[in-house]
Amino acid sequence: MDNPSESQLEQLLAQVLANPKYSSILPDLIKGIGSHELQKRGSFKEAVKETKTKLHQATGVYVDREINYDDWLTLLRNIPPDDPAEIKNACKQIMLQHISTRERIPGLDEFYQIIFNMVPAFSSILDIACGMNPLTIPWMGLSSQHFYRGWEVNIQMVKFLAEAVRKFDTPCSIEAVDIFSVNEIPQADLVFLFKTLPCLEQVQKGITPILFNRIQAKNMIITFPASSLSGKNKGMVHHYTEMMQRWLANSPWQAQSLLLLNELVYILEPRYDYTHYRPRTIGAPNPRDAKISEPRIMRGHDSRCRFI
Ligand SMILES: C[S@@+](CC[C@H](N)C(=O)[O-])C[C@H]1O[C@@H](n2cnc3c(N)ncnc32)[C@H](O)[C@@H]1O
Repeated sequence: MDNPSESQLEQLLAQVLANPKYSSILPDLIKGIGSHELQKRGSFKEAVKETKTKLHQATGVYVDREINYDDWLTLLRNIPPDDPAEIKNACKQIMLQHISTRERIPGLDEFYQIIFNMVPAFSSILDIACGMNPLTIPWMGLSSQHFYRGWEVNIQMVKFLAEAVRKFDTPCSIEAVDIFSVNEIPQADLVFLFKTLPCLEQVQKGITPILFNRIQAKNMIITFPASSLSGKNKGMVHHYTEMMQRWLANSPWQAQSLLLLNELVYILEPRYDYTHYRPRTIGAPNPRDAKISEPRIMRGHDSRCRFI
């Protein structure tokens, strides 16, 4: 098909939004995928079908649409603010509903301790495609001087999270943003891209190097699942390690990596001389300069954490 007309795109958007499974997805993302599919597919019907498939892979697969966000808000609101243990319990219960975020629950007590020990002091976080991860804020050890911003494409989830984070002492902003269509990525000391690059790549192959060039931060923390949603280890660590090596080699970032419970974690820092948030004016770096850390075994009590 030629470039789709605005009315074709609006028709596709209406058909996709009519399905309750996708009614909470930001129209920007639906239109972005839909426009591509309308150009690529032979018929309108096929384009709608493929748009839904992509949306399922990128967003739908992670949450059950029967979620009752109001019940969760009531659960949180009924906990006294001076009962942090009960707030954590409630957050864990809620996170169980997000297939991706819930995999982090068993290791939460150590997850941020280990990661934050590996980066310099920071005051702001941008969590891109955050899912339910804002509910892990109570484990981050942040203060009222920190700032956490979460971006997610599921509008209902964003509305819920924006209310839920009021329970925490840290100033937060949870926003409905489609990372593919956002004009500006705000600067932050730390940017999280947790388990998200594979699903963004499914929608738009090659988005990662674009993001690597656009993001300005002192550090990025990128994670990948070490096993599939069904729990099988299908050589995913090896696969994502190779992908990251390729992406890093042509990027302004260098990284070290570790296996932390179920996640392959990369800690990235800018590769070149870097003063806070100075716009990078470097050209394409030499891939041979890319620093990939040598295998290291972490010393200490935690045998579940392994540097690779
Ligand atoms: C694999 S989950 C990861 C969630 C979270 N980062 C974590 O690790 O707990 C991917 C999340 O990205 C969101 N997402 C998918 N496409 C997106 C987009 N274009 N912009 C923003 N968020 C998106 C999905 O709705 C989903 O919650």
